[in-house]
Amino acid sequence: MRIAATADLHFTPQNYDRIREPLSHVRDDADVLVIAGDLTNYGKPEEMHSLLNALVRLRIPIVAVLGNHDYESGQEQELIRLMTTEGIKVLDGSSYERDSVGFAGTKGFLGGFGRGVLTAFGEREVKAFVQASIDETMKLERALSMMRSEKTVIVTHYAPVIDTVRGEPTEIWPYLGSSRLAEVIDRHGATIALHGHAHHGHPDGKTTAGVPVHNVALSLLMAQSPPCPYRTFEI
Ligand SMILES: [Fe+2]
Ligand SMILES: [Fe+2]
Repeated sequence: MRIAATADLHFTPQNYDRIREPLSHVRDDADVLVIAGDLTNYGKPEEMHSLLNALVRLRIPIVAVLGNHDYESGQEQELIRLMTTEGIKVLDGSSYERDSVGFAGTKGFLGGFGRGVLTAFGEREVKAFVQASIDETMKLERALSMMRSEKTVIVTHYAPVIDTVRGEPTEIWPYLGSSRLAEVIDRHGATIALHGHAHHGHPDGKTTAGVPVHNVALSLLMAQSPPCPYRTFEI
């Protein structure tokens, strides 16, 4: 299966005009398009309406997770409904199988990596924050435990490893992802893990157990030569 992946479209008509033409060819290059969150800028249904108008014209199956920007207006459930109505598979602690390839996804959360992972100690607010990170991890765990496919594609918005946030200022690394996600990935195994969010991170990394991780944030893809609004993986 050929998978085209992108993330962080942050839809505005101007943003989309930059990628409209090259994205229109995605169907020639791939069987499925993965969008790893931040489809909108402010999580407004109007933004999603406009983006969906453009996405349906691509005539390719789409698998997506939401990103933090898609939560900004508190209307994430409405966004999911709009996307689902257009036939997009929105993964939110859920999985989807197509042609013997399983897709498992969730938004994920922040919280840091390795020895720097924030733990649930002290103030109630810290515990609530850490719980949000654990909850997203559990959602991914649930999605993966439902799958029986031989090949697995993991989709999150936040980064599961530190490798693919390198390039961003070190001060903000803990806000870009959580290695709790990678622990789940390694426990279940996967063919590939795709994420966005770290707009100025690094395209490629690996989990401790060696699962390839790719940051497909649009800004990174457009910095490739030649620029292309998606990256294709054959699995
Ligand atoms: Fe983003
Ligand atoms: Fe984001």
